Amino acid sequence: MLSWDEFNQDEALDKKPEPKIEQKAEESQTDQQVPLQEHTGTKGISSLNTEDHSNQIQRAITDLESLDISTGIDELEGSAVRVKVDDKRMINCRADLNQLVPFKYDWAWQKYLDGCANHWMPQEINMNADIALWKDPKGLTEDERLIVKRNLGFFSTADSLVANNLVLAIYRLVTNPECRQYILRQAFEEAIHTHAYQYCIESLAMDEGEIFNMYHEIPSVAKKASWGLKYTRSLSDPNFNTGTPETDQELLRNLIAFYCCLEGIFFYCGFTQILSMGRRNKMTGTSEQFQYILRDESMHLNFGIDMINQIKLENPELWTDQMKEQATQMILQATQLEIEYARDTMPRGVLGMNAAMMEEYLEFIANRRLVQIGLPEQFEGVSNPFPWMSEIMDLRKEKNFFETRVIEYQTGGALSWD
Ligand SMILES: [Fe+2]
Ligand SMILES: [Fe+2]
Repeated sequence: MLSWDEFNQDEALDKKPEPKIEQKAEESQTDQQVPLQEHTGTKGISSLNTEDHSNQIQRAITDLESLDISTGIDELEGSAVRVKVDDKRMINCRADLNQLVPFKYDWAWQKYLDGCANHWMPQEINMNADIALWKDPKGLTEDERLIVKRNLGFFSTADSLVANNLVLAIYRLVTNPECRQYILRQAFEEAIHTHAYQYCIESLAMDEGEIFNMYHEIPSVAKKASWGLKYTRSLSDPNFNTGTPETDQELLRNLIAFYCCLEGIFFYCGFTQILSMGRRNKMTGTSEQFQYILRDESMHLNFGIDMINQIKLENPELWTDQMKEQATQMILQATQLEIEYARDTMPRGVLGMNAAMMEEYLEFIANRRLVQIGLPEQFEGVSNPFPWMSEIMDLRKEKNFFETRVIEYQTGGALSWD
């Protein structure tokens, strides 16, 4: 841990490198030949005398004296009055968004705290075994290599799409500070996920161009990316605003597309394939990265579902029969795209699984997503062929794995696969 002594040492060290200062002096001599007027007014900074300094300070004080505080506050979102819990709403809220408390949605704040407790970084995970296995021509089969490459290709772009949607589209439209607090945490986690994929790609010395361009070169990857992008396009227009039933429904469709479909369905074939590799003691570093990502993602999904259901509760007029039909169709389309992806990434049986098993698993997942937002199941009689996946994601285990994670984070130990 950094102590104050080290802090002071660092400060002292910062002052040491004198040669650089000499070099700066030489540079500034050259600079003097260039007229400084355009940057500093009538005189260069080096020629300011005491009178100039006191004028500058006086001007700053005079400007502050004439500052109209009410104008500044009016420019902040919402009014300047104290916010009451009942003033808060998920969307189209007029209360001051800079007042975090009192909390209305405790679930959002709790998820923010849990997300922070689950913090991890990609460099903490040892990739040596993966590098050796990847370099060994007999280390993995061609089908196994395809799975690693396709998934790094898909995920490296998908997490970036999710992050952009959060920051550029939905953040300003979700008008609740505790939810925004979680969205900021989620956005950082998406950056960590993109970092993790980059870290794997770099560690394995893969062709970066091939991997990062897969989202427009490989059809099964491209379709998923462009399906997601369709729902973010209009919302990321800075002129888009909610406030009418049509625009509120558009936001709702975006949340269903990104939380239920992209993070809730499109990630599941890849997660299952990579985690299955780890369970078989192959690509254990990459699998460990994906296991941490999956834990973050199950939190993102649960947050999104809570947000969707809360918006429905506060705005029941939005949840029309037509909207329910659209939401069902979106989840069914996403399931079909993910089944295509499963077939593309598993042309044959591999790692104890095949495309047909994955299809059943995805239908099982789709049923769950539908029920989670209050819609009826669409696939009868399907069960989970990969019960070990739900072990990892089971919401009831969240508390347990956060507790475990915190200890592991402190000791830098590895996750176990039991
Ligand atoms: Fe992510
Ligand atoms: Fe996510």
